[in-house]
Amino acid sequence: MAVCEILKMGDPRLLRVAQRVTEFDSDGLHLLVSDMLDTMLAANGAGLAAPQIGVDLQLVIFGSNARNPRYPDRPLVPHTVLINPVITPLGDAEESDWEGCLSVPGLRGEVPRWAQIRYTGHDQYGDPIDRTVDGFHARVVQHECDHLMGKLYPMRMRDFAKFGYTEVLFPDIAADEDD
Ligand code: NI
Repeated sequence: MAVCEILKMGDPRLLRVAQRVTEFDSDGLHLLVSDMLDTMLAANGAGLAAPQIGVDLQLVIFGSNARNPRYPDRPLVPHTVLINPVITPLGDAEESDWEGCLSVPGLRGEVPRWAQIRYTGHDQYGDPIDRTVDGFHARVVQHECDHLMGKLYPMRMRDFAKFGYTEVLFPDIAADEDD
């Protein structure tokens, strides 16, 4: 088990455009996925991108279940390893909802995202992934894949009146020490 340090906003490594993964099913890739899972679970996160632990690769993991204390009311998103992702919005519809980020601890902001998307890519074994999703699932994928383009959610916000400290905005959320 290896829980890695999560970089915080302001670190220039969070602003890079990540490199494509070129070799699948390798020991190094499996170790990276394992470390990212340990790190995400330790932080009670719903997703984590490789750049957040300083690894310059197009790899994200995400997934949530009803027991996640940071998102107690959110629907299930299947635990997924997504590499070299491509996101295609389906239609023009947007939805705004609150987001947080392990690299922006203690804060929440309202972020517009495409309501429905198709996303494609590969898992760590090189097997293809091709899903059409909406709602919270679509939001999580867009948030995580933004990390691969050097984008943090405040850079997507339009209304900074909807930005603040979690403990003030949502005092009922059982926030853990990190966020
Ligand atoms: Ni994030």
